[in-house]
Amino acid sequence: MISTKKDIDWSSLGFGYVKTDYRYVSNFKDGKWDEGFLSTDETVTIHESAGVLQYAQTCFEGMKAYRTVDGSVVCFRPDLNAQRMADTCMRLEMPVFSQERFLDAVEKVVKANLDFVPPYGSGASLYLRPYMFGTNAVIGVKPAQEFQFRIFATPVGLYFKGGVKPISLRVPDFDRAAPRGTGHIKAGLNYAMSLHPIVDAHNQGFNENMYLDSKTRTNVEETGGANIIFVTKDNTVVTPKSDTILPSITRRSLMYVAEHYLGLKAEERVVPFEEVKTFKECALCGTAAVLSPVGRVVNKDEEIIFGMDKMGEITQKLYDTLTGIQMGRIDAPEGWIRKIK
Ligand code: PLP
Ligand code: COI
Repeated sequence: MISTKKDIDWSSLGFGYVKTDYRYVSNFKDGKWDEGFLSTDETVTIHESAGVLQYAQTCFEGMKAYRTVDGSVVCFRPDLNAQRMADTCMRLEMPVFSQERFLDAVEKVVKANLDFVPPYGSGASLYLRPYMFGTNAVIGVKPAQEFQFRIFATPVGLYFKGGVKPISLRVPDFDRAAPRGTGHIKAGLNYAMSLHPIVDAHNQGFNENMYLDSKTRTNVEETGGANIIFVTKDNTVVTPKSDTILPSITRRSLMYVAEHYLGLKAEERVVPFEEVKTFKECALCGTAAVLSPVGRVVNKDEEIIFGMDKMGEITQKLYDTLTGIQMGRIDAPEGWIRKIK
């Protein structure tokens, strides 16, 4: 499927950076944000001693704009991304970019890049990356005083190569994120710490890591870029309760869908790794991962197989309902869909 305007083959898009026309930029100086503008420049020039470069004072969000069945362009629960970014900023001593400004910036970026919103049915969407970083020179360990907030857009397809085929996870010897207690924020440092475990997992033939809690190494937490859900033999949807994982918006939505659309029991509770072998389905959930089935989990000598040939039955129902809501085929709960165009 080729867009005549942008010559992009939407159906072959993976999860990579494709330059779009405009990005949103706003600067924080003297205790306040400026009014912001759209820029055609994808580069950033900052001071050699900027807070982001020295002490990784930076955070980001991830969300998507979708083309719906009637040709509209919508975002999915962007108010929750604004709120989570505000929580992260407070934990990182960064100034909050208000929800009102955040939603306005999202709308401006999407409207300025409408030709890059993939067509309905292509399986692709427009990924939005709001982020913020300290820009002025710091040398003592302290917060920056000047910051930049940006949002860029890039069209994306599937996060895991190979279609919606089940993937493999392994339990690594590494912790998800250091320092402990920052796992619930979406910050540069957390992800930098996960790069080595991810490369190591790939080198050993796995798609991702299933991290256990760093304190006891007994309970399931999440993966490098997504939360996890399980389905029990009696069709209860279970997801790990933990205050050291990222509170996924997709996961919160899926738990609601399980209960209110599919009539299933949905439980957020501690999940000991020991219990994983008793589940009949497992999947990763997140903006990028959507709902990616897990076929196999390896922990040292133990191998748990859910099945590598197709998505589980309940996972499929959750997937169809969630994407149906996002693409306008199924009525959404009040406030979930924000229409941009
Ligand atoms: N956990 C991690 C570590 C992530 O990077 C993401 C992706 O954003 C998620 C979970 C899923 O969160 P959400 O559903 O809000 O995209
Ligand atoms: C997302 O799903 O938006 C993520 O942030 C995951 C990953 C690309 C960092």
